[in-house]
Parts: sequence; structure tokens; C-alpha cells
Amino acid sequence: MNTIHINCPAKINLTLEILGKRPDGYHELRTVFQAVSLYDELRVSLAERDTFTVHGLPGVPADASNLCLRALELYRRHSGYTAPVAIELHKRIPLQAGLGGGSSDAAGTLLALSRLHGEPVQAPPLADLAADLGSDVAFFLTGGAMTGSGRGEVLEPLAPLREGALVLAKPDAAVSTAEAYGLIHAGLYTDGSYSVKCAACLSQGCALPELASKLYNVFAGPVERLRPQIESVRHRLHELNAQATLLCGSGAAAFGLFADLSRAREAAASLQAEGTWAVAVEPLPDGLQVVEQ
Ligand code: C5P
Repeated sequence: MNTIHINCPAKINLTLEILGKRPDGYHELRTVFQAVSLYDELRVSLAERDTFTVHGLPGVPADASNLCLRALELYRRHSGYTAPVAIELHKRIPLQAGLGGGSSDAAGTLLALSRLHGEPVQAPPLADLAADLGSDVAFFLTGGAMTGSGRGEVLEPLAPLREGALVLAKPDAAVSTAEAYGLIHAGLYTDGSYSVKCAACLSQGCALPELASKLYNVFAGPVERLRPQIESVRHRLHELNAQATLLCGSGAAAFGLFADLSRAREAAASLQAEGTWAVAVEPLPDGLQVVEQ
């Protein structure tokens, strides 16, 4: 096979807690990840020389700072795989939104390279490489729903959300992950129990209204004070009948929880008509999707 085509999904965090600061400078997290059906499209092909092209949403860095290229460099360094590749990325997941798009693309690049390489036994486990690239990269290799602890890279599978739909919406604002973590102080630390309760609710297949009462995000207060447009978007989602709303990751997108996809589509269409980026999605039972050629 000379080309691998992978759909790289976005994620939301149903809970996101910080327990404290670690000696390595990172924060100790407890989170419940859920993959959702908005995808960046990635194609990695054997080629005569390395190339990297990006289409779709603007503003994606196409230089060595891009996580796809960092994933390529890391995979080569650890596997000895040297074949030149053409990487083509079609971006649909907005940047600096808290939806994990860059991380998902990096995970997709690792998976594509291991497939092109023939999944050799001597290659290091992809989850180890993923954790080196970023705290939430490993999640996308498996996806569905998972609890994350440590930096976010220590994962335990959970029963994914089986009902309902979501609207992802993003005002014309962006928040970098580092900027959001800069707003965190000890007064915001919690003990992980929001995540334990949310995980138990998913495992028991609890109904949507009950799940709606289990959502929590430590960044919600400080990030929305910094970017009040996010709170306005959440307010609109409530007006459009969302059962609950929450900031996505460290922002700047928010999600609304809806009873079904048709209601979510109606709400997304209203937001789009008002000029707000919005899309209706469903929760996924898995992560990266290799598209059959
Ligand atoms: O791991 P990742 O590259 O996604 O993290 C981006 C930034 O977010 C880090 O440089 C750090 O400032 C912050 N971070 C953190 N604790 C975590 C994850 C991220 O402080 N668990």
C-alpha cells in the first residue's frame, strides 16, 4: 500500500480537572475524553521526496513546528524508517479551540507511518511516541471515551457516550494551551471526583440529563473571563435548547449537549446564520479511522 488515508477526529473533555502542579512543570490532570465526528483528513503517501501540504482552514503552520512533521521526525528517529513521504492535511478542526485537532493529526501521522512501514515489531509502541508529542496525542490512537490522568497521557478505556449529539461552536477568539494553563492557580485545584462521577455515569450508560449534571472544566471560569465571547456563545447554545454547555478543553470552542442529531443540526444552522463557526457532531466509539483505499 502506497497511500494511507486517515480521518483524524476532534475530542471534547466531559470533565477536565487539575489536581496540582508536578515537579516537571506540567499539571496533574483528571479528565474524561470523548472523541466526536468532526475530522481532519490526512493522507500520507510514499513519494520521491518529503512534502507537506495543508488545505482547508487557514492559519495552520506548515513548518517544522507542525505536529505532523514532529511526528514524522520522531517516528523516523525511533524506527529507522527513512522512506520519503508526502503528507497532505485537510483541516476542518479549528485551531486553538481545545478540540485536539493538532494532536489528532499527530496521532494520525504516527499510525499512517507505521502502516506504510508494515507495522514492524522493532518499532516502538505508538502510544509512547504519542505521549512524547503532546499530552493528549495518545488518546486519539484509541479514542472512544477514556479517562486521562498524569499529563493526560495515562489512559483507561470507558464506555463511550451512546446517545445524544453535540454542537461545537467557536467565537472569533483563540486561546493557546500554554496561555490557559497560565491562568490556573491552587485555588482551582480539585481532587478528581468530578471525573470519577462522570466516568461512572458513562459506564452505567446513564441518561443524558444525568450526564449533563456531571460536566466540569477547571478552565471554564478563568478562560471565559479572559474571552467573554465564549460565554456569549454558550448562552446562545442554551437559548437553542442545549441541555448543558461547557468549554472545550482549554478553549476557545464550547460544546452544547443535545437530545439528538436533528436538534443539534438545527442549533448549529442557527449559529452559522449568525456568523459563528458551529458544527453538529456525534460521539464516537473509536478514534482515528483508517479509510479503506
Ligand atoms: O503537552 P502539550 O504540548 O499539549 O502541552 C502544552 C502546554 O500545556 C505545556 O507546555 C504546558 O504549559 C501545559 N500543560 C500542563 N499540564 C498538562 C498538559 C499541558 O501544564 N498536563
